[in-house]
Amino acid sequence: MSSIQGKVIVITGASSGIGEATARLLAERGAHIVVGARRTGRLGKLVADISAKGGSARLRAVDVTSRKDTQALVDFTKAEFGRVDVLVNNAGVMPLSPLSALKVEEWDQMINVNIRGVLHGIAAVLPDMKARGGGQIINVASIGAHVVAPTGAVYCATKFAVWAISDGLRQENTDLRVTVISPGVVESELAHTISDAGTAKAMEDYRRISITPDAIARAIAFAIEQPGDVDVSEIIVRPTASPN
Ligand SMILES: NC(=O)c1ccc[n+]([C@@H]2O[C@H](COP(=O)([O-])OP(=O)(O)OC[C@H]3O[C@@H](n4cnc5c(N)ncnc54)[C@H](OP(=O)(O)O)[C@@H]3O)[C@@H](O)[C@H]2O)c1
Repeated sequence: MSSIQGKVIVITGASSGIGEATARLLAERGAHIVVGARRTGRLGKLVADISAKGGSARLRAVDVTSRKDTQALVDFTKAEFGRVDVLVNNAGVMPLSPLSALKVEEWDQMINVNIRGVLHGIAAVLPDMKARGGGQIINVASIGAHVVAPTGAVYCATKFAVWAISDGLRQENTDLRVTVISPGVVESELAHTISDAGTAKAMEDYRRISITPDAIARAIAFAIEQPGDVDVSEIIVRPTASPN
């Protein structure tokens, strides 16, 4: 039996892309899934699909920039399933642009969703996981946590931060499993948040080699299904065709 079977797993940003694919795969493998995002219509369809296949899933609206909302997602999960075994901090935005475009509100949005959102998730589950002496926090960073490219200064900074927060969390908590998943370019709606026309055009070319989100879902499943004394600290998954 897979060690995913029966686990209670919360996934943020599950209304599309990597989060949605991860919810589908982990539900197929027997986990109880709670999905959160702002677009509840999309989450409703996902939960209906999972349920129709005999899986176990619930949804809750969440804006991860709100600590209260993120705590409510975790409290809802505890009310439904009794505990959280795994939190997948996946919600993210990527409105890329050159710094000279001064899209300061978009910088703030990336900081709020990609960094504060991850911290809110950690704050919501850490006390219970510490009290139980176990649990797993999986943070979705990016290849942008390792390399910086023009137009990606702020986005990459947020993902460097996710990497640093994850490694600090891991070092401070030898009773918990902490995993960073760093995808390369993956088919999703992530580039839809780019408002800078030149960057959006360049991204169309860059994203032609995208792999499908289920490749990242499989990496997340691998990290979860290892025995309790094995912490998969980081997995980088990129297209074979990726030069960087
Ligand atoms: N696709 C790639 O090439 C790639 C590469 C490296 C890393 N990543 C990372 O992978 C993660 C998932 O992205 P994706 O590629 O699957 O993109 P996506 O299809 O755009 O999914 C992003 C998810 O984040 C959610 N989200 C955004 N803002 C939110 C907020 N304030 N509160 C709650 N949820 C919010 C969105 O849901 P709502 O809009 O419904 O709230 C959506 O479900 C992100 O952290 C991204 O940085 C992706």
